[in-house]
Amino acid sequence: MLLEKSKELVRDADRASEELQSYSGKVRVVAHYDCDGISSAVIAHELLDRSGIPFDISFVDELNREVLEEIVEESDEDLWLFVDIGSGQIEDLEELLEDEKVFIADHHEPSEGSVDHHLNPHLHGIDGGENISGAGVTYLLARTMAEDNQDLLQYALVGATGDIQKEDGKYLGLNESMMENAVDKGLVERKKGLKLYGRTRKSIIEAFKYTTDPYLPGITNNEPGAVQFLSEIGIDLRENGGWRSLDDLSPEEEREIVHGLITKGYDVEQLLGDIYMLDNGWEIREFSSLLNACGRMERPEDGIRICLENDFDLAENIKRDYGRKIGSYLSFLEDNLGDSDVVQEFGNGAAIVAEDNIHSNMIGTITTIAQKSDILPRDVLVGLAWKDEEHTKISARAKDEVVENGLKMNELMEELSERFDGEGGGHEAAAGGKIPREKEGEFVQAFIETVEERR
Ligand code: C5P
Ligand code: ZN
Repeated sequence: MLLEKSKELVRDADRASEELQSYSGKVRVVAHYDCDGISSAVIAHELLDRSGIPFDISFVDELNREVLEEIVEESDEDLWLFVDIGSGQIEDLEELLEDEKVFIADHHEPSEGSVDHHLNPHLHGIDGGENISGAGVTYLLARTMAEDNQDLLQYALVGATGDIQKEDGKYLGLNESMMENAVDKGLVERKKGLKLYGRTRKSIIEAFKYTTDPYLPGITNNEPGAVQFLSEIGIDLRENGGWRSLDDLSPEEEREIVHGLITKGYDVEQLLGDIYMLDNGWEIREFSSLLNACGRMERPEDGIRICLENDFDLAENIKRDYGRKIGSYLSFLEDNLGDSDVVQEFGNGAAIVAEDNIHSNMIGTITTIAQKSDILPRDVLVGLAWKDEEHTKISARAKDEVVENGLKMNELMEELSERFDGEGGGHEAAAGGKIPREKEGEFVQAFIETVEERR
């Protein structure tokens, strides 16, 4: 069934590729600035470059009319390729790029209208929310452009990982087949083991200390506890003057840790599973959060460079800057917990009114961390930060219990954003939106009232 439907998508890709190959001008690529968008841009970069087609890439964090008008104004290309964005803005594209060729490779819900080539799983009854990423769709185009482009498949999976298109650690639908294919081709290595976040990039101690899912009492957020646990098992934590990562351990040592965890009564089932290693040596989740950081730091071009040039000094540099930025925003929040202009507490929730103290790109990340750490571990958190002169970006987060009780953040954000002349949506536990800045106060009041009423 899925194969049948995906054949139609592949046929669309074939047609697009045919037209692209016979095009002799320059292409304007427009990509979303998140991990999936950067992965899509890497694929677009290579598919064009390898075919000798000149191009320029623009990154956008959203594609509303204003943003689109601005890029159209500064560009004179006759062919536009939108990746991981564009499907929801067909009408604007039809109007503003009436005389140009428009190609879209995206997986977001399509709006009404048509462009020259629209590659989107939804058009063929495939769920773009979990089955395939924007990078996956862009890969379908690359694959039909040239046989040699098959190495780009790994970026399709990096994009899917960035968009969290997994359930219980398993890729679904087309992502699953793409992953099988990537493993068969040797582009991704699959192994079994402790799938703690930070497996390749963090010390063993940190990997354990930062494990929150599942929460490991006595180890999570408890460095001495983590050190003691590992020392009791007899694991050498250092090697050649540096800290060892989980990935540096021998299979025997890893098994001993698993035994140690079982003996202590921890739920190891959740900690064991498939680990996917990219051929650049990074574990796929860590690489996708690196690309995510590039986007959030407004350095998506550096993400492309890291992918194509394996520039890992640059990668470390971005991760460090990103870590510092998060640290400083968290300090701001901690310093202002008692200031009711910044943190408005209610029932078992809180609103973070950050204004311009937290960048709107980062308010979602900060709200998530605040909720998951001991800074503001409330059932419902909403963060607001100024986006531009006129708008406020909003991120809402709810714990699983809240969602299970029927209070869904996507529904709430859709409803309230609309009520205050904005737009919003997302997932049950994590949703976002944008409203006019002058409606901020009213929005917060309505948010608090609605949550209090419904929970
Ligand atoms: O930006 P934030 O991390 O809060 O977004 C959470 C989720 O809400 C994301 O999946 C995002 O795509 C979605 N969202 C949305 N509409 C918006 C803002 C965010 O659907 N205007
Ligand atoms: Zn995406």
